[in-house]
Amino acid sequence: MTVPIFATRSVRRLNSVLSLDDFEALAKRHLPKPLFGYIAGGSETNASRRMNEEAYKSICFQPRVLRNVSGRTTATVLLGEEWEAPFGIAPMGISALMAYRGDLVLAKAAQASGIPMIMSGSSLIRLEEIAAAAPRSWFQAYLPGEPEKIDALIDRVATAGFKTLVLTVDTAVLANRENNVRAGFSTPLRPSVQLAWQGLSHPTWTIGTFLRTIVNYGIPHFENSLATRGAPIIASNVMRDFGKKDHLNWSHVNRIRDRWSGNLVIKGILHPDDAKLAVERGADGIIVSNHGGRQLDGAIAPIVALPDIVNAVGDALPVMLDGGIRRGTDIVKALALGAKFVFVGRPFLYAAVVSGDAGVTKAAAILHDELQRDMGLLGVSSINEMVDEQPIKRLFQWLGNRHV
Ligand code: FNR
Repeated sequence: MTVPIFATRSVRRLNSVLSLDDFEALAKRHLPKPLFGYIAGGSETNASRRMNEEAYKSICFQPRVLRNVSGRTTATVLLGEEWEAPFGIAPMGISALMAYRGDLVLAKAAQASGIPMIMSGSSLIRLEEIAAAAPRSWFQAYLPGEPEKIDALIDRVATAGFKTLVLTVDTAVLANRENNVRAGFSTPLRPSVQLAWQGLSHPTWTIGTFLRTIVNYGIPHFENSLATRGAPIIASNVMRDFGKKDHLNWSHVNRIRDRWSGNLVIKGILHPDDAKLAVERGADGIIVSNHGGRQLDGAIAPIVALPDIVNAVGDALPVMLDGGIRRGTDIVKALALGAKFVFVGRPFLYAAVVSGDAGVTKAAAILHDELQRDMGLLGVSSINEMVDEQPIKRLFQWLGNRHV
């Protein structure tokens, strides 16, 4: 079932989008309140979510001039692969409830834009479908508590053809998402008068995403938490697949490292000692992240934690980062402080919500254009130069000495 009138409208909506932040207001209008609240919110007081963005604002540039930047390029190599730009799409659960076929839209648009998309393990479309449609995508797993289930999941991800596995490790226990409760969002999704009213008052989402999904694919299930199909999103036992992770430790990482021959990336590192442990246990990369401020409220902003972590691991592995990146200048700041690559979460999902494939493509293009412009204004021609060469090294040191 296709709904052409919604497709035309959704592309028209893009005309007013000039920056990544512009997607948020449009998505807010389009989505039922509980769903928008689920994406936008952090945990408890939202302190970390706010700090993630705020921290970039106190870092400034000292640009160089007259450096012939006509040949500048944002292309970069990460984990042996070349990408069009040093940013990608962070994993986000239940995307297909927010945007029609959300994970697929994000993965295909990312691949067409030459950037990586990390598929969430809490997703509603089978991972095999994403691997077939966009083979350069990465897969993110939340480790099940039991070793046999870990093994089976790893084997499934490998058989599907994924080359990079991301382990998210900042979820030992479920976060206090009281903001979700306030917004009316719950897992499982419980029918209520408020939810029904929200559905009626947001017909574009209700018809174009929700009913269209149900008509074409049935009630969404968690498809990738384990090797076997998980529960439907409305099932009372849906939390079954998420609990009992509080005993996980580094020996589980050893087990995965032994079994997984592709790239292994650990996401959710904030402490230099954990970064060193990741190196020791054979990780190929780490993502400095506080989960977009959705886990421990008050956890340090990734851009603030970054310099010490880069210092601790040196060149042993690429240090990546996510959280609060909204502009090309934010990317430059992260790279100048030693990140090799960054990931962006919420804005890409808002873009998928607002205009599907065209929205995500536009979001990637905006960030790419901003980055290229920023490089020109800074006097740098390549991503490596941003970190390695003298003028930027000075910028790096200056930033490193500053309290952000
Ligand atoms: C997330 N995040 C996340 N992380 C992860 O490892 N697995 C997941 O399933 C999810 N799910 C998820 C859903 C939604 C709606 C959001 C907004 C975030 C965290 C995500 O990968 C990333 O760390 C943050 O979103 C980065 O911060 P920004 O860019 O959103 O500020």
